[in-house]
Amino acid sequence: MGNAQKGKCKKDSLAAWLTPRQKLLCQETLELMKDDLPRLGLIVFTRFFETEPNLKRVFPKIVKMNDSNQLELDTDMEVLGRHASTVMHSLGAAVESLDHDGFFEGIIKNIGQSHQRRNVTPRMIEKLWPSLSYGLKEVLIDSYTKEVAGAWKKVFFYLCRHMKYGMNLTEDEEKTSDGS
Ligand code: HEM
Repeated sequence: MGNAQKGKCKKDSLAAWLTPRQKLLCQETLELMKDDLPRLGLIVFTRFFETEPNLKRVFPKIVKMNDSNQLELDTDMEVLGRHASTVMHSLGAAVESLDHDGFFEGIIKNIGQSHQRRNVTPRMIEKLWPSLSYGLKEVLIDSYTKEVAGAWKKVFFYLCRHMKYGMNLTEDEEKTSDGS
């Protein structure tokens, strides 16, 4: 049951998940792209809705796709961009708060709760990784090495894990509610 996950979150901090080298790689690459997070966010979410069109339904008012599965011009790019930027800033904040365990996890858990209220499941969130990796490559170019990708992947799945702690789902709900 989903309830069994509660209470685990304080023990596994991001700092404990990452090696010192991975921590450094995330901090260095975050510094490289910190002024580019809104652009990165848009690249990521444009890709996400093109590769996972069934998930656009959780943003019914803001995301419109055409028959070729591309974002339409009347998509509300401002709202889409705001969410995209928020996601990227959350990843950045996770890395910046590496040395202050505990505080950030509570915020992420609350974000998980609010996603559940919008019918966003943990599996939907996990599906963002390929698009995030694609966007990181577009922005970091040669600096996006395999090692950097591995470090960011850990940060991302750490966030997913803590968002999930805020989602009071049964295992059956997790398996069936993502529409895949
Ligand atoms: C690590 C990944 C993600 C993070 C950190 C994140 C964070 C946030 C935050 C901070 C908000 C606004 C505050 C709130 O309502 O809690 C938000 C809103 C929202 N998120 Fe996410 N999000 C993530 C992934 C996703 C994904 C993959 C989806 C869809 C499949 C999604 C769907 C939504 C929706 C529908 C809203 C409401 C948008 C609105 O009406 O303005 N999120 N997200």
